[in-house]
Amino acid sequence: MEIIIHSSPETSTQVAARIVARLLREKPAAVLGLATGSTPLRLYRVLINMELDWSMVTTFNLDEYIGLPPDHPQSYHTFMWENLFSHINIDKENIHIPDGNAKDIPEFCGKYEKQIRAAGGIDLQLLGIGTDGHIGFNEPTSSLASRTRIKTLTQKTCRDNARFFGSEQEVPKHVITMGIGTIMEAHMNLLMAFGENKATAIAEAVEGPVTSINPASVLQMHPLVKVCIDEPAASRLKRADYYRWVYENKPAWQTF
Ligand code: GLP
Repeated sequence: MEIIIHSSPETSTQVAARIVARLLREKPAAVLGLATGSTPLRLYRVLINMELDWSMVTTFNLDEYIGLPPDHPQSYHTFMWENLFSHINIDKENIHIPDGNAKDIPEFCGKYEKQIRAAGGIDLQLLGIGTDGHIGFNEPTSSLASRTRIKTLTQKTCRDNARFFGSEQEVPKHVITMGIGTIMEAHMNLLMAFGENKATAIAEAVEGPVTSINPASVLQMHPLVKVCIDEPAASRLKRADYYRWVYENKPAWQTF
């Protein structure tokens, strides 16, 4: 894991944007795994302003609520179109977001996995992190080998996401999410986290034991993970000084 600590979400996002932009320039037909939530919003804005060529890019979103109509203001379909897809030259045919209204959800999930494989696998997966350490919607105790499937949200996640809905009761309790096993197959994972409320989840994920209690901790087993965080999100890391030192002393060819 490479832990990249910057003073603000803005400067941290610039690093993440350079990583994504480099991939799209080097591999125009790249396959990107995309995330939702408040964390990647800035990144999408920066990427839009970079005016990159998305015409050959394929995307797979991590997750979606079950039962929300796709045009619901809080569906991840709406989120992605409003915050990224409407502003770039991506081919609609290349966009994949889990269908939370699929009649046969297990069948849909199997198909989603096959589509990822048929696209050649995910080159770069963007990830946020829940305050309980979830990635995608893989809540604590999710199997570390799980594939795309239905999950029931924890009450904590429902409470965390109530800010996007009118109330906690309106947050759907069921979701489709890529599994942890699916995420682990991406060539690179780029996790972003900002703010003090993510500090515990980040400390456990980076420096704690690998455990399904903090699903993000499994990333310790992945060969290529970049963690872009701000100072508040880094505030509970015991080895933060070491991560800063490593970043400041990166060989020129490794810089972003
Ligand atoms: C949601 C999403 C996750 C996201 C997390 C954190 O539950 N399914 O993919 O990482 O919340 O969201 P935020 O970035 O708003 O803190």
